[in-house]
Amino acid sequence: MGERAFKPEEKVTVPGIMAAKGRRKLTMLTAYDYLTALWVDRSGVDMILVGDSLAMVMLGHEDTLSVTMEEMLHHTRAVTRGTQRALVVGDMPFLSYQVSVEQAVESAGRFLKEARAQAVKLEGGASVLPQVEAIVRAGIPVQGHLGLTPQSIAQLGGFKVQGKGEEAAKRLLDDAVALSQAGCFSLVLEAVPAPVAERITQSVPIPTIGIGAGPACDGQVLVTHDLAGLFDRFVPRFVKQYDQLGQRLLEAARRYRHEVEAGAFPGPEHSFGLPRKDG
Ligand code: KIV
Repeated sequence: MGERAFKPEEKVTVPGIMAAKGRRKLTMLTAYDYLTALWVDRSGVDMILVGDSLAMVMLGHEDTLSVTMEEMLHHTRAVTRGTQRALVVGDMPFLSYQVSVEQAVESAGRFLKEARAQAVKLEGGASVLPQVEAIVRAGIPVQGHLGLTPQSIAQLGGFKVQGKGEEAAKRLLDDAVALSQAGCFSLVLEAVPAPVAERITQSVPIPTIGIGAGPACDGQVLVTHDLAGLFDRFVPRFVKQYDQLGQRLLEAARRYRHEVEAGAFPGPEHSFGLPRKDG
C-alpha cells in the first residue's frame, strides 16, 4: 500500500532526533486525523505534530485556546493509528499544564498512555520550567515552543513576530538554554527573526525546529493544511503552499454536483443490476 515496506528499525526515536543535530535537517508536519497521518508518514518526515492548531484548522475556532484535552486525545489517537514511522508529538492544550506541575505530568502522561503519542509539546519559557522538569522526570519526552506562542495570544496582542529587540532576543535565548537544560529534546521556534533563531540554534545542544524562523534552524515544521493549500482563512508569510488541494476539492465537488444534476452520474458502470433469471 505504501511507497516502501515499513521496517521497525526505521521508527524515528527521540535519541534519533537529538542525534540529527548538525548532521541533517529535520522535518515535522502536523496531522489531526488517521488518513492525513498515513499520507504524511509515507512522505518520510521525522515527526508528526498533533498541533493544537487543530482548534482552528479542524474545528473552526478563531484561535487555539478553546481546544480541550479530550479533543486533543481524540485526534492524537487517530493520528497514532495512521503512523508507523514518524515520531508522534501531542500538543498540550491551553490550561492542561499551566495550572500546576501535577496537572502537567498527568496531562502529558495521558498523551502517551491513552493516545500512544511518543512525546508532548508545550509552550513557554521560564514559567514552565518546573513542568518540563517534572514531565521529563516521569519519562515523557518534551518538545519546547518559544517565540510566537499562540496560547498566549492575549498577552502577545496578536500573531506577531517575537524577539525583535535586543532585550526580547536575549530573553528568548535564555529561555531556550533553560528549556534544553530542563530536559527538552527539541525546541520549536515560531515567528522569530532568522538571525535570532540562528543564534539560539548555535547556543543549544538540542535541535531547533523553525516555523517562520529562517533557514538556520536544525529543522522545519509547517501545518499540513497550510502546505497543501487547504486552509485559506489567512496565509502567514512563512507558509509555502506546495499545492492547492482546497481548489482541487472544490473543482471535484463542483463536477460531481453538475454531473448528478445533469443525470450523468451515476452511469451504468457505477450501478448494480439484478441477477439474470435463466430459463
Ligand atoms: O499547533 C501547531 O500546529 C503548532 C505548530 C505551528 C508548531 O504548534
